[in-house]
Amino acid sequence: MVEESGNNAATFEAKEAYRPIAGFFLSSAVWFVIFASAGFILASWMIAPDLFLYKNIPWLVFSRVRPVHTNGMIFGFVGSALIGALYYYVPHLVRAPLHSPLIARITLWMWNIAVAAGSTTLLFGLTQGREYAEYIWPIDVLVLIAFAMTFYNVFMTVAARKEKTLYVSVWYVFATLIFIFWIYFFGNAVWNPETGAIRGLADGVLAWFYGHGVVGLFLTPLAVAVSYYIIPIVSRGPLFSHTISLVGFWSILIFYPHIGGHHLLQTPIPTWLKVVSVTGSVGMLLPVLAVLVNQWLTMQGRLASIHASVGGKWVFAGLVWYLIVCLQGPFQALPIIQRVTHLTNWVIGHSHIAVLGFSGFIGLGAIYFLIPRITGRPIYSRKLADIQYWMLLIGLGGFWFVLTMAGLIQGNSWLNGETVYRTLPELHPYFIFRLMFAMLILVGSFIGLYNIGMSLLTARAPAPEEDT
Ligand code: HEM
Ligand code: HEM
Repeated sequence: MVEESGNNAATFEAKEAYRPIAGFFLSSAVWFVIFASAGFILASWMIAPDLFLYKNIPWLVFSRVRPVHTNGMIFGFVGSALIGALYYYVPHLVRAPLHSPLIARITLWMWNIAVAAGSTTLLFGLTQGREYAEYIWPIDVLVLIAFAMTFYNVFMTVAARKEKTLYVSVWYVFATLIFIFWIYFFGNAVWNPETGAIRGLADGVLAWFYGHGVVGLFLTPLAVAVSYYIIPIVSRGPLFSHTISLVGFWSILIFYPHIGGHHLLQTPIPTWLKVVSVTGSVGMLLPVLAVLVNQWLTMQGRLASIHASVGGKWVFAGLVWYLIVCLQGPFQALPIIQRVTHLTNWVIGHSHIAVLGFSGFIGLGAIYFLIPRITGRPIYSRKLADIQYWMLLIGLGGFWFVLTMAGLIQGNSWLNGETVYRTLPELHPYFIFRLMFAMLILVGSFIGLYNIGMSLLTARAPAPEEDT
């Protein structure tokens, strides 16, 4: 009898702690559909800018929808998945219950209100006009509070830990939450609510310290943390090396924060800053390879069991995208390469394989891996998850290929002094192919929402804590 009531209490506690995780996962799936639709509008605009829709409805203008799409994807889709996941694996890794499920629930609401209100105000034309920092001041405050509450909750959970070793995923979560709070605060110049900017050229440097930090010190470390958690579990073996994982951890913190200047190589920022940015970009190979080599040695000979796990498969693909992104990144940071690629669709291709391929795939992997653990039963349909996987993989692969081609045409035309009106028709077929590949991603997002929604909303009470 006592044991039974103990079990009930554990189940209740687990249920409370898992509710915000389910909320983050469902939000991620909903945002994915909404912001992929926004991306679809942008891509169709590039094929038919004269369509009456895009001329007469102000909130469908390209310049308003673009930041809705980019911020929404980063914070709404990928951000929600990765934050939701950390509320699961941090307590498990430190062997302590989540400090406050209530604070986590408030954080979830605040986060979603920020994304919804940020997107709506952007559609009304209220913007701070700096890439990925477009949300206006009140939204920035909400985002900052959400980061601070997440940090507090994680900190208090870790403070009550029973596990002595702090596994590397926990290190990454701490670093992310500390860095992103300050990067977001300074990058949005929150003390200047009118503009969200500082003055002159220095603002360009600040804006790219921020833009680069959002992808590199928010999405990247949280995605890496998830992979460090999931890969050893699905490989059914320990991590190859804790020491290498720490080399990767410290080196990303050393290189990443100050290389945002590689977005500004063709602007009059100081030369020393460009040199630091380019050398640091090449240096990024160290943390990236440390992560990948470590995880590949962990997986060695166990690929079959990774692919048998629906979540493991997404995480694995995300790591392959990470390799491609981070070989391409240092390459395109070289001034001689950027002479051709900068400000072309080549970079848009890079952004998509990075944010969707690497961090988005790992975010979806976390969702599919953790849903059975928080609901106590398998996901609604493994088949649908696999269909979504292939649609996204083929869609994104094609999307990246055609944009890379289009980017090379643009860059070379530009270098050769070709006029825009002669180049644009050449790009047209590529934009049509991009839209076709994007259709796979869009339909995949709907399939994901259906599958994740059915898995969560029809769930039984969770089983007491269990690590597999
Ligand atoms: C239906 C699928 C999608 C379509 C059609 C699409 C389309 C687009 C378009 C047309 C742009 C603007 C490009 C430009 O200004 O030239 C863009 C930008 C962007 N999209 Fe998407 N997108 C899709 C999915 C995604 C996903 C799933 C993510 C991330 C998870 C994402 C992240 C981004 C980012 C970060 C940018 C900014 C790129 C940059 O400035 O370099 N997109 N997208
Ligand atoms: C070794 C690591 C990486 C390096 C050295 C690198 C380098 C670069 C460079 C040089 C650019 C600017 C290209 C140009 O404007 O001409 C760029 C753009 C971008 N990168 Fe990476 N990258 C790396 C990894 C990543 C990762 C992991 C992500 C996402 C999780 C990411 C997301 C982006 C995005 C979204 C842009 C477009 C920014 C814009 O709107 O212009 N990158 N990257």
